Amino acid sequence: MKKRTCAVIGCSGMAGQQFVEALQNHPWFELTGLFGSSRTGKSYKAIMRYTDINFTTIIEDMQIEKMDAFQAEEYDIVFSAVPSEVAAEIEASIAQKIPVVSTASHFRYFDDVPIFLPIVNAKHSDLFKIQQENRNWDGFVCPGPNCTTVGLSISLYPIFQKFGLTSVHLTSMQAVSGAGYDGVTSYEILGNIIPHIPQEEEKVRKELKKILATYENGKLTIPDIPIEAKCNRVPVLNGHTQCVFFQTKTEASLEEIQKQLKEFVSETREYKLPNCPENPIKLYTKEDKFRPQPRLDLKQPNSGMITFVGGLESTVFPNGFKMTVLSHNTEIGAGRGGVLSAEYLTKKGLI
Ligand SMILES: NC(=O)c1ccc[n+]([C@@H]2O[C@H](COP(=O)([O-])OP(=O)(O)OC[C@H]3O[C@@H](n4cnc5c(N)ncnc54)[C@H](OP(=O)(O)O)[C@@H]3O)[C@@H](O)[C@H]2O)c1
Repeated sequence: MKKRTCAVIGCSGMAGQQFVEALQNHPWFELTGLFGSSRTGKSYKAIMRYTDINFTTIIEDMQIEKMDAFQAEEYDIVFSAVPSEVAAEIEASIAQKIPVVSTASHFRYFDDVPIFLPIVNAKHSDLFKIQQENRNWDGFVCPGPNCTTVGLSISLYPIFQKFGLTSVHLTSMQAVSGAGYDGVTSYEILGNIIPHIPQEEEKVRKELKKILATYENGKLTIPDIPIEAKCNRVPVLNGHTQCVFFQTKTEASLEEIQKQLKEFVSETREYKLPNCPENPIKLYTKEDKFRPQPRLDLKQPNSGMITFVGGLESTVFPNGFKMTVLSHNTEIGAGRGGVLSAEYLTKKGLI
């Protein structure tokens, strides 16, 4: 396969760095452009603030360019990790010509745009053709979900598929990297918990339902599930943890729920995509009461694309269950998750 040339916009940020890491040495994509806003005109090495990622010398020596220098004709695809406020204009203008895979929220809620998480809703990719027709674009915008919604959707999807859901409640404990590089100050977060993340709860409510929607004849049918969320910022570097309480529509035993989670494989597995995990969910049994934990689980190699589930138990509510869910907010929740989407779209001939 001829390698697709690509650029990362917002390459210096928390999500942008993950795009760059996932794209360096990628078998299908060649990263040839890095773009930013305030940190431009220097090498990637020179602008890199604290990171635990090892970039290749080719990447470190690349120059960060201003958006004025961006030419869509030079790329097959663009990965965008810019703040939502600027995504509206930048992404729409690029999508007129080439596909944009984005971590920003701006495009997520339009009817002709899926919130794309191929492990769960690969079928929604048919909407990209409709988006192109509606907007008269040669490209399209493919936004991924909000980072909290990623682990939530992956863990609930196999349960929803078999038993349906009548309610979902969750409390999140979200890492500081989810707020962006300059998001929360050390003075605010060290030794502390911040009990509010602007717009996060609304995003979780809207996005989970749209991701679980059924797709038929060019339309998404959104399931009627009451969802409530309370989102908190906690002093963890990476990894969003959530305590999730849910009720199934039809009766299910604890063993049946466990089986659904344990045996879940994504439809995308057959395409052998470089970033698609063989088993998207790692389920801890009741013997592992103290897992998952961000510090222990997310340091394992290749853990960034896994959704960890533990503490699964029945509750006192009818058909009620509870579980703890952990996933990496900047890997599967942003940059590397976006690269997985692009891999799927490439296999489908959309890039
Ligand atoms: N962090 C996460 O866990 C996460 C997860 C899912 C989704 N997201 C979404 O991903 C996006 C980026 O988040 P982040 O956490 O990576 O934020 P961040 O660390 O603050 O990084 C923002 C990046 O955007 C660039 N940028 C800002 N304005 C720009 C403009 N006008 N033109 C070009 N580049 C511009 C910045 O470049 P300079 O450094 O050059 O100014 C920087 O590279 C946001 O929409 C966020 O909601 C983040």
